[in-house]
Amino acid sequence: TWTPAAFVETTVAGLKEQIGEDKVILGLSGGVDSTVAAVLLHQAIGEHLHCIFVNNGLLRKHEYEEVLEQYKHMGLNVKGVDASARFLDALKGEDDPEKKRKIIGRVFIEVFDDEAHKVEDARWLGQGTIYPDVIESVSASGGPSATIKSHHNVGGLPDFMKLKVVEPLKMLFKDEVRRVGASLGIPDERLGRHPFPGPGLAIRILGDVSPEKVAILQEVDHLFIQGLRDWGLYDQIWQAGAILLPVHSVGVMGDERTYEKCVALRAVESTDGMTADWVHLPYEFLQKISNEIINKVPGVNRVVYDISSKPPATIEWE
Ligand code: XMP
Repeated sequence: TWTPAAFVETTVAGLKEQIGEDKVILGLSGGVDSTVAAVLLHQAIGEHLHCIFVNNGLLRKHEYEEVLEQYKHMGLNVKGVDASARFLDALKGEDDPEKKRKIIGRVFIEVFDDEAHKVEDARWLGQGTIYPDVIESVSASGGPSATIKSHHNVGGLPDFMKLKVVEPLKMLFKDEVRRVGASLGIPDERLGRHPFPGPGLAIRILGDVSPEKVAILQEVDHLFIQGLRDWGLYDQIWQAGAILLPVHSVGVMGDERTYEKCVALRAVESTDGMTADWVHLPYEFLQKISNEIINKVPGVNRVVYDISSKPPATIEWE
């Protein structure tokens, strides 16, 4: 029978054998998969694993600083690269969802490539690819997901890097990855984290992205996620987040008329992200969080809750 401990033992031994004295580069995202892949590789080859954690300026509030600190705490050889300005500049004025994704993918590759070149004699690229990613990229060649959204988790790096790929989690499902992570001593907080898309808040800001919009959405998202944690709801949810709509609506504050932005909240249950149901969050929670958002986040005067399931809606709005 499959156990996390046995998986770790065989995988670490296998990685040692496969990689030997070579150097490996790995991009950390803050998510479960890349973190578990990094810790496995670190156990196998120690400081020969060079991790890179890029801030694309589209992460959650404080995520970059906190997660970088946690990675260092875990003993990983990690370099943080704050490329926020580069991403936000490149996105300026673009409002097409797929073009936004492409821009972010391209800039990520450029930034990552610059950093990768700084690691001399690297031979391998480590990736946190898991089994469903493999399936999805295969079905994407013919299936509907090919045209709906261009995910760039799999095989997204350019050939010219000439690195061999090592993917220690390729045969695992998400729950197995989490169990492996727990047996490696990775903090629960990291392992229980909701999935978060590579293009980050850019695909939750409908229309064009600006630093001001990112700042507003980070505040709203932070209140929502913190609220879910405080109410003990976070761990029952597959994924949650806030969406900044390109809509202004009329409101009233004191005796002033306002004309400000609207945000949507989304929380879904799912086992693999392929299908999803909206979560029946308690009305008391929705009431409290909506008041909190409107009172605390300047520029937002209306909150709505997304009650669409996937299919036909997707989890993300873009
Ligand atoms: P959808 O919106 O297609 O999302 O129902 C399914 C899952 O995939 C995530 N997602 C992405 N992840 N790059 C990513 O790394 C992307 O471009 C992307 N688009 C969607 C989404 O957050 C959900 O977990």
